[in-house]
Parts: sequence; C-alpha cells; structure tokens
Amino acid sequence: MPAVRRPLVAGNWKMNGSRAALAEIGGMAQAFDAGLRSKIDLLVCPPVPLLWAAAKAALGTGIAVGAQDCHARTSGAHTGDVSAEMLADVGATAVIVGHSERRADHGEKDQDVRAKAEAVRRAALTAIVCVGETRDEREAGKTLAVVRRQLRGSIPEGSTAAGLVVAYEPVWAIGTGLTPTVADVAEVHGMIRAELRKLVGKGEFEGVRILYGGSVKPSNAAELMAVENVDGALVGGASLKASDFMGIAGVYR
Ligand code: 13P
Repeated sequence: MPAVRRPLVAGNWKMNGSRAALAEIGGMAQAFDAGLRSKIDLLVCPPVPLLWAAAKAALGTGIAVGAQDCHARTSGAHTGDVSAEMLADVGATAVIVGHSERRADHGEKDQDVRAKAEAVRRAALTAIVCVGETRDEREAGKTLAVVRRQLRGSIPEGSTAAGLVVAYEPVWAIGTGLTPTVADVAEVHGMIRAELRKLVGKGEFEGVRILYGGSVKPSNAAELMAVENVDGALVGGASLKASDFMGIAGVYR
C-alpha cells in the first residue's frame, strides 16, 4: 500500500528579493489558513541574507524556510561559503542542493551534490535534491538515463523520507514558460520512485516526496500536481509573489 505523502509546495526565490520582499511571507501566511495547513507543507527558500528575517517573519505561520545551497563542510577556511549547520542556526529546515543553476554556474557534479546532501543530513535538515535533463538530452531521448544517473550519483545512502525530497526540474522548463506533458512528468516521476526503491532504505522510499519544478504557475498547477508520484512543486518565479505562490498551493485545498 502506498505511503501517504503530505504534499510540499516549495518556493525558490533564487537571487531575488530584498528585505521588502519579506512582506510576501506575510501575504502567504494570510492565505495559509488552517484548512490548507492541515493538508500541505509550505516552504520558502529566500537568499541567505534574508533567511534569519524570513524565519522570524514565518514564525507561528506554519511556513518553513530553507536555503538554496550549502557547503559540504561544517566550518573552516571557505571564503564566501555557508554550511548547513549555519543555515540550521538561522532557522532553515531544508536546503536545496544540486539545482541546475548551481550545476551550470558553479560546475557542481553529482558527487558534489551528494556531499552537500550529506551535509544537510548531518545538520538534521531536509535535502531537496534537484535533477533534470537539458533540452538536448531530452531531444536525444536520454531523459530517463540522465535523471537516473543524477539520482544514483547525488542521493546519499541511508536517506530517509523525512530527510530527503527529490525535485525533478527539466532544465529547459525552468523560467521558460514551457512544461513537459503530464505523460512525460508521470514517466519521469515513476522512474524516480522506482529508483528510490533501490537507493533509499526499505520502508522509506514510498514516503520520499518527489516535486515537479519548471514554469509552475497557478494556471497549470492543478494539472501537474494531479500526476501520479507528483507530491508537490518547486516553484521559482511564481514564488516571489504571495498571490501566485498561494494560487499554486491552493490547488491542494
Ligand atoms: P521557474 O518556476 O521560474 O521556472 O523556476 C523553477 C526552478 O528552478 C525552481 O527551483
């Protein structure tokens, strides 16, 4: 019998937002009423300088805050880097690792992503491990192979349902307004679930949430979130405005 997975709607603000943007968290809190709170988890991942203030703004609202990346080590001579322990200290409960923008802009490989995911676990936070194919890889029919390789390389052994979330984000769908068909999403998410069975401890893999990310908007969220093995969304641009983000989360009402 499939485990019941509580949907997670997560917002990735990327390198956007100043202190004024914290007002959006207030707006999200207003729409995150008891009914919706009883059904889903809501997470906002602002840039690091806003994390502590975001955690305070979110206090008592049921909204969790997270980070977009971390270093694999706890502390030390790593100028400009931030550890998972530091993120936990300022109120983060989750860390996105292996986002395609990190893989592309900073050359992060699967082994780096795995080391970061292990650091997130060491800090007792939830790792949101991102995977997804490029347009060329999709057109070459390599989507499943690429995503499978990323999963095998990036997910730490012994991950638990509480400590791991997988986000499938086709690179070509990020920020483009393009989305895969529901059949394509179902195929990839089904493969991810099957792969998790091998990678994650027995009794845990069914509880791992698999998010879809890439041009999720209020207008397409219902269709995408209804796909089997889609347990929520990782939202970029549409998470910057409370009305859009809560329009997406609201499909779970
Ligand atoms: P968009 O929702 O802006 O396409 O971004 C998706 C994403 O990269 C979230 O991590």
